[in-house]
Amino acid sequence: MKITKTVCEFRNLLSNATSPIGLVATMGALHEGHVALLKEARANCGTVVASIFINPTQFNVKNDYLNYPKNLSQDIEIMEDNGVDLIFNPDLEEMYPQSYTTTVNVKDLSSRLEGASRPGHLDSVATIVIKLINICQPDFVYFGQKDIQQLLMIKRMIIDLNIQTRLVSVDTCRDADGLAKSSRNIHLTELQKQSAVGLFSALQVARELRLNGEQSTGQIKAEMKRVLIQHKLNVDYLAICDPESLSEIEYINGPAIALIAAYCGNTRLIDNTLI
Ligand code: PAJ
Repeated sequence: MKITKTVCEFRNLLSNATSPIGLVATMGALHEGHVALLKEARANCGTVVASIFINPTQFNVKNDYLNYPKNLSQDIEIMEDNGVDLIFNPDLEEMYPQSYTTTVNVKDLSSRLEGASRPGHLDSVATIVIKLINICQPDFVYFGQKDIQQLLMIKRMIIDLNIQTRLVSVDTCRDADGLAKSSRNIHLTELQKQSAVGLFSALQVARELRLNGEQSTGQIKAEMKRVLIQHKLNVDYLAICDPESLSEIEYINGPAIALIAAYCGNTRLIDNTLI
């Protein structure tokens, strides 16, 4: 396994790589969710590339960026154990030199839900992801359904901008009790972790109601909210949407997705499921 910090060396190292090339983009602080992406890439690609870059522009709150968990040596070990061939771990200046000005905006998909709560966040994600794709030129890129809006936005961007890569979507990896794995879970106390399971419980309730024939998203959301409050979670948004456009639905007639963002103490958590 090789590690590089520069675009130039990265491209040189990739010039004779065995196809297909798979890219897993991360901000480090790896957990089993990231590992699921690495495993999927390893199973299907001749060369597996992973990036570790905490992208400062996608953080709305400076402290969230400063407090973002970092564990480079462990991340490298996990990547090596999971068969990564090449790690791209650029410094800030390599990705955003002083002269940098460009931002990518995927209209609509980047403005609702996460976009409304975290203005500019998804534009910054789109921008860093297209940069990573352009640098790596992978045949496949792997993204987790845990961040479904990010995934759908990138899928849209790949189509709209004729990017020569295929997005592979990977199921959300969870703890045994249902809590979605997240780098931010490290900030939760044991007690808060029990609260945090409320996101999964609320999604389960939505699925059950839907399975029993409930079509009114108003009814479903009211029950979900009850569960979230019961778990002492502070709801940021709660939505039931079309699974492609993420526009909100009032009556469910086909596939739908339930999405939640909620604070557990100071930690903001997101989760979603098809219902
Ligand atoms: P990060 O939060 O490190 O996540 C990297 C990838 O891991 C994303 O595709 C995310 O959806 C996936 N992931 C995270 N938790 C997961 C889980 N529990 N199950 C399955 N997949 C999971 O997402 C980002 O970084 C950044 O926004 C990035 C795309 C790297 C751009 O900076």
